[in-house]
Amino acid sequence: MDQPLKNEIASRRTFAIISHPDAGKTTMTEKLLLFGGAIRDAGTVKGKKSGKFATSDWMEIEKQRGISVTSSVLQFDYDGKRVNILDTPGHEDFSEDTYRTLMAVDSAVMMVDSAKGIEPQTIKLFKVCRMRGIPIFTFMNKMDRMGKEPLELMEELEEVLGIESYAMNWPIGMGKEFTGIYDRHNRRVELARAEGDGRFLEIGEDGDLAEPNPIQDSSYYQQALEDILLLDEAGNSFDVERVRKGELTPVFFGSALTNFGVQTFLETYLQFAPEPQPRKTADDSEINPYDDEFTGFIFKIQANMNPAHRDRIAFVRIVSGEFDRGMQVTVPRIPKTFKVSQSTQFLADDRETVNTAVAGDIIGLYDTGNYQIGDTITGGKGRFAFEALPQFTPELFVRVSPKNVMKSKHFHKGILQLVQEGAIQYYKTLHTEEVILGAVGQLQFEVFEHRMKNEYNSEVNMEHIGSKVARWIENEGDVKESMTGPRSMLVKDRYDRLVFLFENDFALRWFQDKHTDIKLYSLL
Ligand code: G4P
Repeated sequence: MDQPLKNEIASRRTFAIISHPDAGKTTMTEKLLLFGGAIRDAGTVKGKKSGKFATSDWMEIEKQRGISVTSSVLQFDYDGKRVNILDTPGHEDFSEDTYRTLMAVDSAVMMVDSAKGIEPQTIKLFKVCRMRGIPIFTFMNKMDRMGKEPLELMEELEEVLGIESYAMNWPIGMGKEFTGIYDRHNRRVELARAEGDGRFLEIGEDGDLAEPNPIQDSSYYQQALEDILLLDEAGNSFDVERVRKGELTPVFFGSALTNFGVQTFLETYLQFAPEPQPRKTADDSEINPYDDEFTGFIFKIQANMNPAHRDRIAFVRIVSGEFDRGMQVTVPRIPKTFKVSQSTQFLADDRETVNTAVAGDIIGLYDTGNYQIGDTITGGKGRFAFEALPQFTPELFVRVSPKNVMKSKHFHKGILQLVQEGAIQYYKTLHTEEVILGAVGQLQFEVFEHRMKNEYNSEVNMEHIGSKVARWIENEGDVKESMTGPRSMLVKDRYDRLVFLFENDFALRWFQDKHTDIKLYSLL
């Protein structure tokens, strides 16, 4: 690979922002885009309120409910780096989508509402990042409001999440008294209510500001100095290697809404966030970003983003090499080779055609029904697959059928496409081949029903069969249908694997006691 291409790849920073809903992810994304010059007006990203970012009919649901269902990709250049931000749905019913998106990033930014501390959804998402060993940068948001004490927040972070932390900066006061931040990393104090040159004050060798200065008599500043002394003595030291391994999270304090501390965060983050990382294959080898051959995998498929075109887009994380529009790509699963003539990259309020993109970037390929979520794509002759994307064990199930049997073609097409997108999980009963859908959260069914009607002109009957405990089987050959009883059923998943659906944990245990030779397992 030539040096200019290597440099291009090394300049990529691809990450997702994770948080509990309302911690400020959308606000932060918007501020980062403003710095990156990718948008001009605040409010552009806030599709859920302004409606500008809504790109398809079914996003009506998002608007109505004020939640973000889809993940989108945003890109901008800053400080010689090309930044790719992958947005993730905040609502837990769509966590499968979020988990898949986290497979496509090299690091994550975790937003915490400093009044609320570490919330349940943050814990879940954090665990996925941990499993993948990706570096996590923490932003303690909403310092312009009264919240928990910063030391308490740091303690909570370490205790609840079990990760060590290092405060890159420290707030001076909070709420109405939020005066600024003591930036340990850049050795300066950034004042909240100052403009231009007066905004930054240099910290001396002794860790203090030279006098006179505007905050020397502030009790909040004195408190911050005391806290920092404590951190210096008893806290962790900064170690970039440990950050890269996901063992230590750098913590930044600030306020996304008032835009305080965001730029410093971005600049410091870009300095330490990893460049594109290698990815594992199904047979446990690795593909390096600097390999010549173009490779990637599909982590998301979204249909009908543009209602005028009724199109479907497969989002590809490029793992290695360079993508050129017009190139031949192969999907080893099918296996089939296509010429890619239509591809796209994403901006905040627009899409533009992409001609080239490199490892670390996300591109969208127009799809006429060839791709599936999790597909590997290569530009060469390689026949391999990247490691599988995580699939959840669904807990909720419905039996579905078309309201109008004359329209069963639409029904099956809709289901096929929505299943390929990963919007919902597909099962069927053994002989009658009735369709059963599985979901992690109830909202997935609502989106399914809405999309079937609006996009596939297919109204569906949905019979809720309630929550079930789903278990896959290691030794399928030993399973007999007679093993099922009134509190369990046997179905097949979309890959034709057998799955037991148990009424509850009790029924599962009863089965296991009776059939000790059958080895059951759950997915994520
Ligand atoms: P999310 O994407 O993580 O769900 O959060 P979002 O950015 O939508 O922010 C949730 C709410 O928190 C919004 O208020 C937003 O304005 C507010 N917020 C975000 N960052 C800060 C901050 O630094 N300080 C303060 N005080 N508030 C912040 P909202 O009332 O729900 O929406 P809006 O009507 O203000 O847009």
